[in-house]
Amino acid sequence: MTSVVVVGSVNLDFVVAAPRIPAPGETILGSELVTRPGGKGGNQAVAAARLGAETVLVAAVGDDRMGEDLRRTLAGEGLDVSELTVIAGVSTGAALIVVDERGENSIVVAPGANGKLDTDRITRRTDLLGPGDVLSLQIEVPLATSLEAATRAKRAGASVLLNTAPLPPLPNATLERLLATIDVVVANEGEALALTGATPPADPAGWADLAAGVCGLGPRLAVVTLGEHGAVAAEGGRSYVQPAFAADVVDTTGAGDCFAAAFSVALARGLPTGEALRRACAAGAIATTRLGAQEAMPTADELDRFLE
Ligand code: RIB
Ligand code: NA
Repeated sequence: MTSVVVVGSVNLDFVVAAPRIPAPGETILGSELVTRPGGKGGNQAVAAARLGAETVLVAAVGDDRMGEDLRRTLAGEGLDVSELTVIAGVSTGAALIVVDERGENSIVVAPGANGKLDTDRITRRTDLLGPGDVLSLQIEVPLATSLEAATRAKRAGASVLLNTAPLPPLPNATLERLLATIDVVVANEGEALALTGATPPADPAGWADLAAGVCGLGPRLAVVTLGEHGAVAAEGGRSYVQPAFAADVVDTTGAGDCFAAAFSVALARGLPTGEALRRACAAGAIATTRLGAQEAMPTADELDRFLE
C-alpha cells in the first residue's frame, strides 16, 4: 500500500451555477445554491484515497456544523482523519464558487480554521511519513506550516509535492524556501508564469522549457498544467509533453487538485515521470466531467479503464 499524507485545507463549497462569471459590479441570477465538500487539501486527499493510496489528511475545521459534516464525509471516503483537528472559536473554511456554462469557475475562499493550522498541529505525529511516502501540499494553509511539514517529510525520507494553488503575492520568502525543499511542483499556466516572471510561450514545447525554468527554483521535477492543452513536465534536463484527454467538461472545480493527487499517488507507487503525467492528466480530465470537487474524483479502476 502506498501512503500519501495531505497537509492542507478543507472547505465547505457554496456553489451556484450561472450562465457566466459576473463582471465587477454586476449582479446576475444563477441556479439554486448547493453545498459540497471541498478545499484543496480535502479534495487531494479524497482523490488519493479513491486512487488507492492509504491516505492521511492533516487539516483543521472549526467547532461548527460545517466542520462536523465535512469530517463525516471525509471519513466516509476511507481517509485517516485522526489528524483533522477542531479549532474552537473559528469557522470552518468556506469557498464561494460560481460555475459557468462552460464548466469554468471563479472561487473566493474564506480560510477560517485553515488559516489556523499552525506548525504545532502538524508536529504531533512523527510516524506519519517514512521512506517512499509522499507528502502532498497546496497553499490554502499557512506557508510556514507547509514548510515545517516539508522539512520533516524530507528528514523522514519521504518525497514532497507542492501544488502552487492559490499562489500568494510574490515575492514570498517562505514560498521560496518551500520550493527549495520540495521534490515536485505542480503549477498551472498562470502560476508558472508568475513564479518565473516569464512571458507566455507559444506552444507546449515552450511550456516545457518554462517547466525547466520552474525547476530552477528548487524542485527536481516541475509540472505545468495547461488545461485543455494537457500538461508538460521537466526533470533533470528531460522534458515531457502530455496532450489533454478528450472530456465533456461539466465542472472544472477540483480538477487541479485531482491532477496533483494522482501525481502524488503515482510518485508513491514509483511510476516513471511520463506515466505519472499521463495518469494525472487522465484523472484530472475525468474530474471535469462531473459536478463538484470531491464527488467528482475518479477511482483507481475508473482511471485504469479510462486509460485502456
Ligand atoms: O480547487 C478547488 C477548491 O478550491 C474548492 O473545493 C474550494 O474549496 C477551494 O479550495
Ligand atoms: Na468537477
